[in-house]
Amino acid sequence: MRVGFIGWRGMVGSVLMDRMREEKDFSGFEPVFFTTSQIGQKAPDVGIEAPPLKDAFSVEELKKLDVVVTCQGGDYTKKVHPELRKSGWQGYWIDAASALRMSDDSIIILDPVNRQVIDKALSSGVKDYIGGNCTVSLMLMGLGGLFDAGLVEWISSMTYQAASGAGAKNMRELLSQMGALERPVRKLLDTPSSAILEIDSIVTETLNSPDFPVSEFGVPLAGSLIPWIDAAAELGQSKEEWKGYAETNKILDLDPKIPVDGLCVRVGAMRCHSQALTIKLTKNAPMDEIEEIIAGHNQWVELVPNNKEESMKRLAPATVSGTLKVPVGRLRKMRMGDEYLSAFTVGDQLLWGAAEPLRRMLSILKD
Ligand code: HSE
Repeated sequence: MRVGFIGWRGMVGSVLMDRMREEKDFSGFEPVFFTTSQIGQKAPDVGIEAPPLKDAFSVEELKKLDVVVTCQGGDYTKKVHPELRKSGWQGYWIDAASALRMSDDSIIILDPVNRQVIDKALSSGVKDYIGGNCTVSLMLMGLGGLFDAGLVEWISSMTYQAASGAGAKNMRELLSQMGALERPVRKLLDTPSSAILEIDSIVTETLNSPDFPVSEFGVPLAGSLIPWIDAAAELGQSKEEWKGYAETNKILDLDPKIPVDGLCVRVGAMRCHSQALTIKLTKNAPMDEIEEIIAGHNQWVELVPNNKEESMKRLAPATVSGTLKVPVGRLRKMRMGDEYLSAFTVGDQLLWGAAEPLRRMLSILKD
């Protein structure tokens, strides 16, 4: 099996390479690394021999592959995928970008949640396997059990999304913004007797100053938040909000469809997306049953007891960052009635939200 990697040097691609090295995935196939700018240079060291870097836009080279794994982004997919398919190529296309996600010929991959959908697609000859939106994937990793048990009538998700979802440059800008906020008040902070309202007014002035670094986000994120992610979609939703319904139902292949809607908000976390969920249950299931169903769904879900100490420590981007854990907590019935459940979940946007489903799909193909 010849597997081509495109976009392996970017942020998601680098996370994918690290995870594949960690899991000793580089065996049992022939890796070929592609580039858009450094053709002929040495391939990265992955423990097995790989030829020099090939041209990512060469249909002739791509045609020799059995599998393409791309983290190069949507523009690349939109340009190269149709050309490659038109050339008669029948290989598997595994992609992190959203470009092909809602196509009738593709499957959204999240195998701990929809392995059956993937297996069915493989046996019926589907060739395009696309990673889901990070927020949707992380919600389903946390709450997959409730969906499987038929307990979800509808779900409303209010998100707290990290800078990484907007890109590597945005992560840098968030930190630059944090520094820019702290610098002018450092002396005052070091003086315990200084007045907090004086500090605050300097911070507000800095946030609104034309020198504040906002070239990526357009507005301050540090010391603030951004209640809109991506372009406008329909019904007043942002595209990120639109994906909640479209992708959840596609991933689970649901019929009839389950309403999923909410507001997506960018906050000053680095790489973990969090979500506060209101779930309308199909029946008044008891809490112990609900907890068992959620915890038993996959090996990465961690049930966090609904108390202050554990919620603060375990349901936090700072704790989850860089790990595959998907803690789910703040579980309780709400005042609206016994069929209304609240939950809070956190997950690493670059792992389950991007690289991990791709890595696992490649392993499924290898088997
Ligand atoms: N759209 C997501 C975000 C990341 O902006 O956080 C990619 O799924």
